[in-house]
Amino acid sequence: MNWIKVASARELKNDEAKTLNVAGHGVALFRVDDEFFATDSMCTHATALLSEGYVEDGCVECPLHQGRFDIRTGKALCAPVTVDLRTHAVKQEGDDIYVMSPAAK
Ligand code: FES
Repeated sequence: MNWIKVASARELKNDEAKTLNVAGHGVALFRVDDEFFATDSMCTHATALLSEGYVEDGCVECPLHQGRFDIRTGKALCAPVTVDLRTHAVKQEGDDIYVMSPAAK
């Protein structure tokens, strides 16, 4: 297991996201209903950062062409996205948020 501390819980409010560099990989960290989730930062359709998208009801809408993904599972939900997002394990210890290194998979 290779957990990397990436953020403090207080940095994000619910339905907010930020882009992280985790061991050289672009990762988007989301806060949904006071839980934290991580996916690849880049949309699977083209070049857009999902942390800049609109987050609602556990989904993120890509800022470029409005494709949507389920943040918890990475599932692609509507056109034009057809390829699911890679997700990354997250754990919280107190105020500290850790993401499993994408290189550890
Ligand atoms: Fe995300 Fe096109 S780049 S939907």
